[in-house]
Formats: sequence, C-alpha cells, structure tokens
Amino acid sequence: MKFSEIQESFPLEIEENTIFTINTKSVTYLTHDFHKYPGKFIPQVPKWAIEKYLSGLEGKIILDPFCGSGTTLVEALLHHHNCIGIDIDPLSVLISKVKTTVINLKKLNEINEWLINSINQEEIAEFKPSCATINHWFTNDAINKLSIIRSLIDKIPVLFGNNRDIIDIQDLLIICFSSIIRKVSNADNQSQKTYVSHTNKKIPEDVKTLFLKQLGKYIQDITAYTKLIKSTSKSIVICTSSVDGINKVIDGKIDLAITSPPYIKAIDYIYNQMVEFFWIGDYFDMDTQKKQNLKKQNYIGNKQIRKEEYSTYSPYERLLSIKELDLKLQNIYSEDVKNGFKHSYITYKYFIEMEAHFKSINKLLQEDSHYIMVVGNSNVSNINLNTADYLAEIAGRNGFKLDNKWGYKIRNRFMRFDRKGRGGLIQIEWVLDFRKNTK
Ligand SMILES: C[S@@+](CC[C@H](N)C(=O)[O-])C[C@H]1O[C@@H](n2cnc3c(N)ncnc32)[C@H](O)[C@@H]1O
Repeated sequence: MKFSEIQESFPLEIEENTIFTINTKSVTYLTHDFHKYPGKFIPQVPKWAIEKYLSGLEGKIILDPFCGSGTTLVEALLHHHNCIGIDIDPLSVLISKVKTTVINLKKLNEINEWLINSINQEEIAEFKPSCATINHWFTNDAINKLSIIRSLIDKIPVLFGNNRDIIDIQDLLIICFSSIIRKVSNADNQSQKTYVSHTNKKIPEDVKTLFLKQLGKYIQDITAYTKLIKSTSKSIVICTSSVDGINKVIDGKIDLAITSPPYIKAIDYIYNQMVEFFWIGDYFDMDTQKKQNLKKQNYIGNKQIRKEEYSTYSPYERLLSIKELDLKLQNIYSEDVKNGFKHSYITYKYFIEMEAHFKSINKLLQEDSHYIMVVGNSNVSNINLNTADYLAEIAGRNGFKLDNKWGYKIRNRFMRFDRKGRGGLIQIEWVLDFRKNTK
C-alpha cells in the first residue's frame, strides 16, 4: 500500500492500492451544499471519474444508480454531460432533482420577494402535520412557524401558475424548508438516528430566522449553478428500487456510471429523515411513522427484517461462493448468540441484492465503459467484512473487470459518518474502478 497526502483533487493516474488523505474543504460549492444526506460522498470522486474517462467530451450519459443526494449528477451537469439518477428514497430523489434543475431566475426573484413579505405578515396557517406525536418533536412556536411557511409554499402554483418553471421553484423551496427542520426540532442535530435527548436538552433555532437565512443561501447557490449549466444538458432522476424497469430505454447507452452503494446495516435513511418526513412526507405518502416503516423493506442493507423472512435461512446451506465471505457469515451466525442469525441473513441478503444489481447495471453500460463504485468495509457483529473485495469478486462474475482499486480517507471529520458500536468511523473509502468486459 502506498500513502499519499493531497489537497483538492485526485490525480488522474493512480497506482493500484494507493490510499490518499484528502484535505479539501471544497465539498459544498454551488448546489452540493443543499440538504444534509447520510453517506453523501465528496464531489471530488465523480469529478475525478468524469475527467479521467470522459475528458474533452460533452453530452455523454452518466448514471448513478444509488444517487442519494445527487453528488454525481451535479458533477455530470457541471461537466456538460447528461445524467440519470436512480434511488429508492423519495426525499433523496427530490433533493437530487432540485440540485440539478436550472431555474427561471426572474420568476424565482418574484416568488422570493413575495415569500419574504408573507412570512413576516402571516400569523395563521392552514397546514397541519398529521403526526400524532408532533409536540414531542417540536415546540409550539416551531410548529406554528413551520406551518406558516409550509402553507405559503403550498400556495405557490395557485398564485404564480401551475407550470414547470413554477413547480421547479416550489420544489426548491420545499427542499430549502426541509433542510432547516432538524435544526428547529427538539431532536439532536447530528446523530444518524432521530431522537430527543433528555440529558442534553437542545435549544432549537428560530424557524423564521433560519429559513430566511437558508433561503438567501439557496437563491445565491442556485443562481450561480443555473448560469453554469448548458441548456442542452439533460437530467432525469427516477424513484425506484431497481434499475430493471428502465432497462429498455437506456440499454447499452450509458457512457460512465459512478456510485456509492448502501452500506450493510449501517444507515436507516428513513429513520434519519423522520422529522423532515413529518413536514414534507405527505408529498410521498410518508407523513406518519407507520407509513415510513412500511417503505423500509426494499432498501438494500436495511436491518428491519421480519423473522419469517429468514426463518429457513442457514449460512451453511445458502452460500455466496466466496470462501472468506461464506465463512464470515457462518462466524456471525455462530458467534453472536443474540443477533447472529439475523445479522448473518442481512449480510447474505445484501450481497445477493448487490449481485442482482451488477447483473442489471451491466446491461445498461456500453462495452468497455467504466463503473466507479465507492465503498467502505463493514463490521457486523464485531466481525470485519472486506466488503470492497467481495463486491469486486461478485462484479467479476457478472461481466466486469476490476481495472484498479484505490482508497481515500477524509481529513475533515464532518464528512464521515459515525457507526457507533458497529465498527466506529468508516476509515477508508475504497474506489473500485470496474470496466464492462463481457467478451
Ligand atoms: C451511500 S447512499 C448514496 C449517497 C450519494 N452518493 C450522495 O452523494 O448523496 C446510498 C443510496 O442507496 C439508496 N438505496 C438503498 N437501497 C436501494 C435500492 N433498492 N434501490 C435504489 N436505491 C437504493 C439509498 O436510498 C441511498 O440514497
């Protein structure tokens, strides 16, 4: 292994197994800063891939099949390419859509002026969140002010026109609104899980002050972004749990794919966004905890699995045909008396689903085009899993050749995510550089 310290960007030529420490603070430029999202990767990764494999070209199609908050998609458009994003999470899809959509700036300024005036005048709101425990999560003052802003955002198409330009602006404002919700709630600001701490009482920020500050920032960033994007570049973001549905349209047409797939058992995306869903979940039919829990089942790596699903599972009978991994699944099963059965099954299922993923992605890519995957290793029931190596082996038997593997660590802690009790911070993000090779 070779270690190397860099400041801003990865070099185009990288020796295998190099591990970089990247010091950059430049991860929030333009729309990249819109809304928090668990497991967001740094824009330097898609930027590196695009500059390496599509250098000097424009108008190519870049895919991110687990697009999350759209980091790859924004970089694709900034480099004058087209992009397709796919994700199962409806909030992530809306964030990605907003971050990549150019806006009618004249209309935006008109609506902004109206919104600022109205927020300062309005006292009564029509919107009421349907969550029965809303008073646990928010103060009365926050509920009242959030309701006012949400009601105003709802009125926009009626007042300004029900057309695409106006809906795009409304979506931008929904994401701006959503992005302040955790901070104005009683819930801890930083944790992966949404909870109200009774030992460490939080003083929530004022809704109106924070929203107006955020609105100013969003307008500045989307204006700068809009001016940089070519009118010929197209962006599509689709909310689905599988790429199979879109196969026919883009079969064999993708020039480059870049992604960071879900981790095993590490992030509960819906739990993480619970307070946001109380205020904007009705747009996706996810405004109550019950509806939110129903949606969790199809997330890859999800740990909410019903007993019936794994009652017949045995790691000694169901093998993934990767010797080290099969052994580790058996160790998880036998050594963790309390949770081993379930954890072994969750891990097994993760790799089965990722195998199906590689199969379907392979059909979408052009021959010899690259699929860049960023993945951290995992720790399940105190057993370390070399997830990157196992995924490389699975990809290898599904039409991909591993051209390179390198890694990076991020100096700034805020970009990493904590996995307390499950192996600590993910230290190294591995970059697997696959090439479609079916001949
Ligand atoms: C590590 S995150 C991607 C983060 C992204 N690179 C970014 O910068 O924001 C992984 C994503 O996979 C999505 N995901 C999980 N299961 C999925 C499935 N079955 N189909 C599509 N997306 C899925 C999650 O919703 C999550 O957004």
